[in-house]
Amino acid sequence: MKKVSILGSTGSVGRNTIDLVASQPDKFKVIALTANTNVKLLAEQARVLNAEHAVIADESLYSELKQALAGTQIRAAAGHQAVVDAAGIPADWIMAAIVGAAGVSSTLRAIEQGTAVALANKESLVCAGPFMMAAVEKHGTTLLPVDSEHNAIFQVFNPLQRAGIKRLILTASGGPFLRKQRAELSAITPEQAVRHPTWAMGRKISVDSATMMNKSLEVIEAHYLFNVKNEEIDVVIHPQSIVHSMVEYIDGSILSQMGAADMRTPIANALAWPDRMQTTGNALSFENQINLSFEQIDIIRFPAVKMARDVLRAHSPAASTVFNAANEAAVAAFLARRLKFSEIESVVEETLQTANIPSVSSLEAIFQTDTDARRIAETVISRVN
Ligand SMILES: NC(=O)c1ccc[n+]([C@@H]2O[C@H](COP(=O)([O-])OP(=O)(O)OC[C@H]3O[C@@H](n4cnc5c(N)ncnc54)[C@H](OP(=O)(O)O)[C@@H]3O)[C@@H](O)[C@H]2O)c1
Repeated sequence: MKKVSILGSTGSVGRNTIDLVASQPDKFKVIALTANTNVKLLAEQARVLNAEHAVIADESLYSELKQALAGTQIRAAAGHQAVVDAAGIPADWIMAAIVGAAGVSSTLRAIEQGTAVALANKESLVCAGPFMMAAVEKHGTTLLPVDSEHNAIFQVFNPLQRAGIKRLILTASGGPFLRKQRAELSAITPEQAVRHPTWAMGRKISVDSATMMNKSLEVIEAHYLFNVKNEEIDVVIHPQSIVHSMVEYIDGSILSQMGAADMRTPIANALAWPDRMQTTGNALSFENQINLSFEQIDIIRFPAVKMARDVLRAHSPAASTVFNAANEAAVAAFLARRLKFSEIESVVEETLQTANIPSVSSLEAIFQTDTDARRIAETVISRVN
């Protein structure tokens, strides 16, 4: 039996992972599940899957969790450090699906186990890419990309033919406002922004998809994951979300992975790797005509991707830490109705220009850079309001 832990089990990726794990109870033993505040769902998941540990990040909810697990053998714990510790409990496979930089320490702790880590938490790589990849190398960890684009590339990227790989082509749906002009964006509400046309996802990544910040984070993620240069990564708009990304070889061959827009496919790929497993998700049906279209991204309309490229050109890990922190602060402010949708990119841009980008040689310095960038972003947010 494969021993699995799921960090962020109550989120969108977490719930899809639970769905797959629960579908084959003879194959998986659940070690630890973690959440931030959703005690009710965490306790329910832990009971149903007979997990060994259930951990809630919000310390004030410890007694509520204890109570919800009464009468079971499941060990309860609470607090940020308890989540990090849960990532270190021996397991064969750990899903890192906490959202945002809040997942950095636990993702790193999971990597340090030296087994297999399924990476959904892209912000870990954006915020601390060199440290994460050095830990992967040092501990001999198998890092399995879960983001659908990176999982697609992972499936068609032949490391034995690395010299023959010309570029990675990330596909982007374009989000819910692909055809809207910039002038139309100022009145967008959080409810509209989180309604993605092809994917069902958590609130933060849905807003990131609408601004294309998600694609920017993914360009940086791909740079670290596959050790490719900025210029070797392209982005194309593909509104149908069927071709999940591509690898182009120097002989002109372009290999892609296709499927329905259902996260259970990349998660199943990572969960069963190097084998395959039956998915509980949707499969692509050819009963109706399928049209695939691809178009260039308009970088004036979507400045986020250009920002990510500038960040990578800075060749400083701290620049992408600032980029990520400013975006997290701006998205949170937008979701709390303290910032207009159309102002998210300018908050990130201004934070990048204002912040002193230090050279960082430790994870502590990364965390400090993250904190400082959030403070600057908050100042910008208060001013533009
Ligand atoms: N959703 C997708 O389809 C998708 C696709 C590709 C990549 N991703 C990436 O996967 C990650 C998760 O995305 P998601 O959409 O699943 O997010 P989500 O639905 O918002 O879930 C986030 C999870 O993280 C937990 N969490 C939030 N803040 C935390 C904190 N401070 N400490 C500990 N745990 C915390 C949440 O717990 P509570 O439920 O208690 O709040 C929840 O379990 C993100 O990095 C995202 O970019 C997601």
